[in-house]
Amino acid sequence: MVIKSVSFAGAIAKPGAAPPGRLPQVAFSGRSNVGKSSLINRLLGRTRTHVARVSATPGKTQEINFFEVCAGLNGRDTRFYLVDLPGYGYARVSKEARRRWKPLIERYLSGTGELLGVVQLIDARHGPTAEDRRMIEFLAQAAVPSLFVLTKVDKLGARDRQVRLPEMVDRMGVDADQIVLFSAKTGEGREELLDSLAALLEEHEGAT
Ligand code: GTP
Ligand code: MG
Repeated sequence: MVIKSVSFAGAIAKPGAAPPGRLPQVAFSGRSNVGKSSLINRLLGRTRTHVARVSATPGKTQEINFFEVCAGLNGRDTRFYLVDLPGYGYARVSKEARRRWKPLIERYLSGTGELLGVVQLIDARHGPTAEDRRMIEFLAQAAVPSLFVLTKVDKLGARDRQVRLPEMVDRMGVDADQIVLFSAKTGEGREELLDSLAALLEEHEGAT
């Protein structure tokens, strides 16, 4: 799959609000500061001029942001949304903001017919937090097709890769083939993740 163009399509801040259009969509979820916006920029090839805002202050993205992507897939153009979900679990975010987060995310994830899947991000240095595990549990219960990405792997030494990563994968309780190692800094994992997105889109096109 080749990314041809990307543009910001809109945002929703209220639970139950409609996405900007009815394109198929893949959402990116994770703890605040896990590297969602950086991953989206890298995935879309936007390393110089960003589409998704990378935060100096974690917890800044409090809305669901939609990026419309046009990609070449099997000789045709396919359009879809990449969806940047607001991060959870950042201590300094106000209680009020945290109280708003849950209904916004949960209604989006369980009420969007065009949602093809969720990419759940987990920081490769720290492994799944209690909140990450609740999220994994929620995705399983809502039966949303999910893929897991371990972020910032450029920060791991060789030993962490060999010893700690497999432990982490164990603790996540998901299949190893559902996990992609990713670095927004080096681009590691980009092709693999693009292939997984392409597979989701192909499956969807086959079904419609
Ligand atoms: P919120 O929008 O606040 O929820 O955060 P986010 O998950 O979108 O994280 P963001 O992409 O803004 O990245 C947070 C910080 O981690 C930034 O300082 C990034 O530069 C850094 N970062 C993100 N990805 C990587 C990576 O792959 N490697 C390294 N070394 N740093 C990264
Ligand atoms: Mg962000």
